[in-house]
Amino acid sequence: MILLLAFEVSAEPLAARCQSCHGLDGIARNANTPHLKDQHIAYLRQQLLDYRTRKRRHALMSAIAASLTEQQIDKLAKFYGQPHSQGAHTNSLK
Ligand code: HEC
Repeated sequence: MILLLAFEVSAEPLAARCQSCHGLDGIARNANTPHLKDQHIAYLRQQLLDYRTRKRRHALMSAIAASLTEQQIDKLAKFYGQPHSQGAHTNSLK
């Protein structure tokens, strides 16, 4: 818990740059903006890297991702995301 808090303190100034659209808690207030909360860390990281190289195209997110270092991208992905846990989904589409 102490570790988690320490981590959040270090990622929060970075996350302030995302807050207006994605919310500081990762819940977007606007229907056109995806939630980041609880998304897989690896997925979030990959999207930011893809925006940076423009493999995934979105003018605004590409500009934002281009302004981040890979280290900052890692921090933000961990701040918003959850580690992948297999078998965590108990709902089915029956
Ligand atoms: C001005 C609004 C705005 C800001 C600020 C912003 N984003 Fe985004 N973000 C968006 C929108 C809109 C999308 C959806 C873009 C698309 O269609 O690809 C998005 C998409 C994303 C995605 C992909 C999510 C998914 O489900 O595929 C990630 C990850 C992301 N943003 C992270 C960040 C991070 C980290 C920051 C801060 C450093 C940030 N964003 C700042 C508007 C914003």
